[in-house]
Amino acid sequence: MTETEKLLASCLSEIEKCDSLKKIEAIKNVIFGKNGKITQVMDKLRGLDQEDKRKLGAEINSVKNEITRQLNLKYSRLELKELNKKLGSEFVDVSAPARPRSFGKIHPLTKVSEEIADILSYYGFVCADGPDLENEYYNFTALNMPDHHPARTMHDTFYINTPSDEKGRHLLRTHTSPVQIHSMLANTPPYRFFSIGRVYRSDSDATHTPMFTQVEGIMVEKNVGFAHLKWLITNFLKKFFAAKDLSIRLRPSFFPFTEPSAEVDLNYEVKNGEMAFGRGDKWLEVCGCGVVHPNVLRYGNVDPEKYQGIAFGFGVERLTSLKYGVPDLREYFESGDRWKSTFGFHHVS
Ligand code: PHE
Repeated sequence: MTETEKLLASCLSEIEKCDSLKKIEAIKNVIFGKNGKITQVMDKLRGLDQEDKRKLGAEINSVKNEITRQLNLKYSRLELKELNKKLGSEFVDVSAPARPRSFGKIHPLTKVSEEIADILSYYGFVCADGPDLENEYYNFTALNMPDHHPARTMHDTFYINTPSDEKGRHLLRTHTSPVQIHSMLANTPPYRFFSIGRVYRSDSDATHTPMFTQVEGIMVEKNVGFAHLKWLITNFLKKFFAAKDLSIRLRPSFFPFTEPSAEVDLNYEVKNGEMAFGRGDKWLEVCGCGVVHPNVLRYGNVDPEKYQGIAFGFGVERLTSLKYGVPDLREYFESGDRWKSTFGFHHVS
């Protein structure tokens, strides 16, 4: 037997002996390691002359290749063996209880937004949209708010720190009324649009959050007026609260973009901790509305001699709180565990 034949035979017998994946690493070390079998034979190359060195070197290389091939083969056999063993001994307990999972529930604001959209669609209003990131032109100027109007101050409005352009400074819209202008400019009357979205004001306490949700409605037609507005809002609220005899109070008010303007209060009383609408002596404001100011119609490319408009805006959180009894406005955006299990998420096992 030559030196290399002996080497091959002894390495193969090592591999043969190996009976688990764990031992493979150790065997690799016995063969290829620093003091391994191959290294020992390689050491013998040193004393040889050029010709013998080349010959022995080539033989060692082919032995190495054969050993690597046998090691890989052994590895896959052992892997298969261990897998089969595992499959034979382990089992899936199909009767084990499942891990608890959280299921999403519709957020009450989303639910109420959908209810509102349903009712307004019933009255012929079409969904419209506008950006949260607005500019002074759409949020104020086109809504007939003069430059010195107090709502324009930093105190109430979040301005964005970007260079202003011909439409003024950029800002987060303080109400959904700019959608009135976008809708008018993109359409020819008659039309009815509504829009539901987030608005932002620099304000925060139990009844004010820096971000809240409004629904805006605008209707531009020939011969539409305050009486239609009153009818629409009364019937909208009746449907929303599923109340037969709900009474509203229209309080004269002021918005630069409507003339005349009013705020709508709902009549209610508290009975056994529950709110009952249409009775009692308590009033709660739910809506701002009015007949669209002729200047605003002009900004919207509508001829006020031919068409009139009516518009209204509701606070969606306010309507949701009244219908579903959420006491603190901030809870809508915090979603603690208890709140989530009542209004948002719940766990099942
Ligand atoms: N934009 C007004 C507000 O935020 C509400 C409103 C909308 C009033 C439409 C009149 C007409 O308070």
